[in-house]
Amino acid sequence: MCGIIGYYGDKDAYPILFKGLKILEYRGYDSWGIAVKQQKNIILDKETGHLPESVISKNGNIGIAHTRWATTGKVTEQNAHPHTSNDETIYIVHNGIIENYAELKKYLHTLGIILKTQTDTEIIPNLITHFLKNNDLKNSIEKTTKLIKGSYAFVGIIKNRDELFFARDGSPLVLGKEKNELFLASDVPAFLEYTKNAIFLNDKDYGIYSNKKLVIFHNGEKINEQITKINWTVEQAKKGDHPHFMIKEINEQKHTIKTAIEQNPELINKVTKEIENAFGVFFVGCGTSYHACISASYQFAHIAKKHVNVILASEFSNYSDFLTNNALMIAVSQSGETADLIDAIKIAKQKGVKIISIINSLESTIDRLSDLSIIMNAGPEICVLSTKSYTSQLAILLLLAYSTANKLNEGKKLIEQTTQQIPDLIETIKPKLELLAKKLKNKKSIFLIGRDLAYPSTLEGALKIKEVSYIHAEGFAGGELKHGTIALIEEETPVIVLTTDETRDLILGNAREVKARGAFIIGIDSKNSEIYDEFLQVPELNHANPIIMMIPLQLLSYYLAIERNCDPDKPRNLAKSVTVR
Ligand code: F6R
Repeated sequence: MCGIIGYYGDKDAYPILFKGLKILEYRGYDSWGIAVKQQKNIILDKETGHLPESVISKNGNIGIAHTRWATTGKVTEQNAHPHTSNDETIYIVHNGIIENYAELKKYLHTLGIILKTQTDTEIIPNLITHFLKNNDLKNSIEKTTKLIKGSYAFVGIIKNRDELFFARDGSPLVLGKEKNELFLASDVPAFLEYTKNAIFLNDKDYGIYSNKKLVIFHNGEKINEQITKINWTVEQAKKGDHPHFMIKEINEQKHTIKTAIEQNPELINKVTKEIENAFGVFFVGCGTSYHACISASYQFAHIAKKHVNVILASEFSNYSDFLTNNALMIAVSQSGETADLIDAIKIAKQKGVKIISIINSLESTIDRLSDLSIIMNAGPEICVLSTKSYTSQLAILLLLAYSTANKLNEGKKLIEQTTQQIPDLIETIKPKLELLAKKLKNKKSIFLIGRDLAYPSTLEGALKIKEVSYIHAEGFAGGELKHGTIALIEEETPVIVLTTDETRDLILGNAREVKARGAFIIGIDSKNSEIYDEFLQVPELNHANPIIMMIPLQLLSYYLAIERNCDPDKPRNLAKSVTVR
């Protein structure tokens, strides 16, 4: 995880880097640091904790910066990036994990270099400095990266040279290029204000920028840069009038779901054919994206009468014996950079499995590993929690289920009708949810139950509540709670019941079972019932129910976070893009 940014151009680097870090803070916020080059000196600022509102800027037009999500080494100022070589000539910011760190540390020890911090990053500037004694910068980076096992994206500066150098393998790094400027960042929004010309690096690419010249290498050879024009707007990456990105992104869903289904019909056709012809379809993802996969399995069963497999990316290797070159993997990921999913894709590819991804980040690692990609077009999602990306995933998967049933237009119509209901729904339930959050804010646990299509929504709703408010929450299939967990129901334990027309009779039976044990029942339903202590009305939208039901659950999570003084955009211990295993 972590966010990195580098700049070399005709402006002062410090304010650009600081602004970029603010945008990248969703990737990690344990500590931060900025280094800028001033003539022959490098000025270094580092601190633990979130970024401050503002900083005192420093001069210098070359610099690097980092916002950390700690992996190797505790959250301390010393472990914060940038890290330097022992002779303090090279400064580095790094995202990723050096797996053979202990071995390389010993190697450096034999060279008389004793590391000063607990991080693995310090290995990089020290190796480069060591190789620089007998090599040029290009060869020194090459020799260093050949020794590293694991994943990395790094950007560095050198005390006595006007150069910015970089490399990536397994962790994201994208370049932004203008005539007299180069930006390097973990994610495009960090430099979107200055340029829309992006260069996406491939794994094992590395390069140097000096004298306004960019050179990128791969396997020792110079390669041509490929500029991609980014169509995201600066406003999409800004909070605007909203107090938090989370509420902004929840509100955006009326648009983002619509744009998610505005796909090229030829692409949808191709993907549909692949699904129809595959011998074994595997939907794979992590966290929220995994919940979208579970939801899809119900949609494919009901609408397309097709069985699909759903597997957590981190558990995928256990199923590799069942993969043949006729199988198909649908990899679902907002970031397109999730390490567990990348591993799963690589396993599948080795067996000849075709990969189709559903992602939000064009040119991400997963996009590049895929045979075909459906881009969600949700715009940048800055809040660490997935909200709009989840409903976009649901919409695309629902569309594919309809398309597999040869009813694409019917699916589109239903999803469009769903998006039209969102603004009114938000308006009417917002005040109720604000009050409900006040009522629930001190609860120990919240349970959610739902059957059929509503079941994956309980899992996702519980995840949202946990992540952002730190209240324990668990989602269950309605029939399951009584098989053990019902023991936890006490007087006034909140149980959220997700009810649809299809499931009403059975799920209300399950609600009665918990109500008889004192539970406080919150119904999310199109119809009120005497059993509900609180009622949140949502429209009945049949196969699109999982989309519409998410709105009150996301809003409740947001207001719980506000009531409990939690930062909804940056929950503790989390980071947006999980690039570690
Ligand atoms: C939860 C959340 C995570 C991600 C998971 C996978 O709000 O955001 O559970 O869904 O880390 O990330 P992607 O979708 O980027 O592969």
